[in-house]
Amino acid sequence: MCETARATDLLDWYDRHARVMPWRVGPAARAKGVVPDPYRVWLSEVMLQQTTVATVKSYFERFTRRWPTVAALAAADDGEVMGEWAGLGYYARARNLLKCARVVTHDHGGRFPDNRDALLTLPGVGPYTASAISAIAFDRAETVVDGNVERVMARLFDIHTPLPAAKPELTQAASQLTPSVRPGDYAQAVMDLGATICTPRAPACGICPWRVPCRARAAGNQADLPRKSPKTAKPTRHGIAYVAQRSDGAWLLERRPPKGLLGGMLGWPGSDWSDAPAPAPPLDAYWHSLTEEARHTFTHFHLRLQIEVARVEAPTMPSRGAFLPAERFNPSELPTVMRKVFDLAHGALENLG
Ligand code: ADE
Repeated sequence: MCETARATDLLDWYDRHARVMPWRVGPAARAKGVVPDPYRVWLSEVMLQQTTVATVKSYFERFTRRWPTVAALAAADDGEVMGEWAGLGYYARARNLLKCARVVTHDHGGRFPDNRDALLTLPGVGPYTASAISAIAFDRAETVVDGNVERVMARLFDIHTPLPAAKPELTQAASQLTPSVRPGDYAQAVMDLGATICTPRAPACGICPWRVPCRARAAGNQADLPRKSPKTAKPTRHGIAYVAQRSDGAWLLERRPPKGLLGGMLGWPGSDWSDAPAPAPPLDAYWHSLTEEARHTFTHFHLRLQIEVARVEAPTMPSRGAFLPAERFNPSELPTVMRKVFDLAHGALENLG
């Protein structure tokens, strides 16, 4: 163990193998002086928290087509932004996204601050995102540590402490390697290495630019790292969802309160998924119970929703929510669990005739 890992070896590899991404200025363009748009870097980093690159790409393209600048996003209607975010999950990110766009537009003259400390003052921008924007958009020597980087560092330095306890140790290891030359390219290079070569299972060590200094590879235990503390089992919660369609095709929907799970998103009236007794239906009708439940898994629990459907005559006054005309209702604006309810209920209502 005489070799130490060098940032330049990784940068040379990145120059040849950088992944192409819609928000990225690749190494060749960057070398010619093209600088990334901080708005696009920020938007991509918020979307990429807890979400894969493959999923994010199409959302990113739609968002930037519709709102090409931070000022355009700041001026957007809240419901339209939540609708575009639907399906990405972790909806607090979208609420903070709008808040942040408005702060940048109104308090910072439409320019993102160019350093980590100032970025940290923005809504929804935590330590990871502030470091990523500083490094990628402004080429500052900040250390960016996501799950990919943790795995690379655990292997490179053969760190056996299980996650999440290992985080400070892994961050320390990563910061030792962060170069002052090309830190933005370097941050993305470590992520690309973790995503394409230093993969969770069966890493492709034979073609890794850091194969010689990698301590876990020398010890032969690279595929067992990083270690992880056992996760606690998720509980299952139960709830009910009422799906009513009016004879003119309108659907009874409600916008959820801004705080909490799925806050600000459209959904079907129903229970709050606690042990409390189910609320009464939102209107008097002949309700049919579906035999199939909607199932969805959130970060901390599994959910099973019993679905009640009804066809109702116009005019009808619901006790909660409002009827949305069929031509204004787009199921893709529902969060995934509500979309699952819709898909089951829609089929059942068609069969009811
Ligand atoms: N994951 C999070 N940010 C990323 C980036 N900029 N490039 C690749 N993967 C990422």
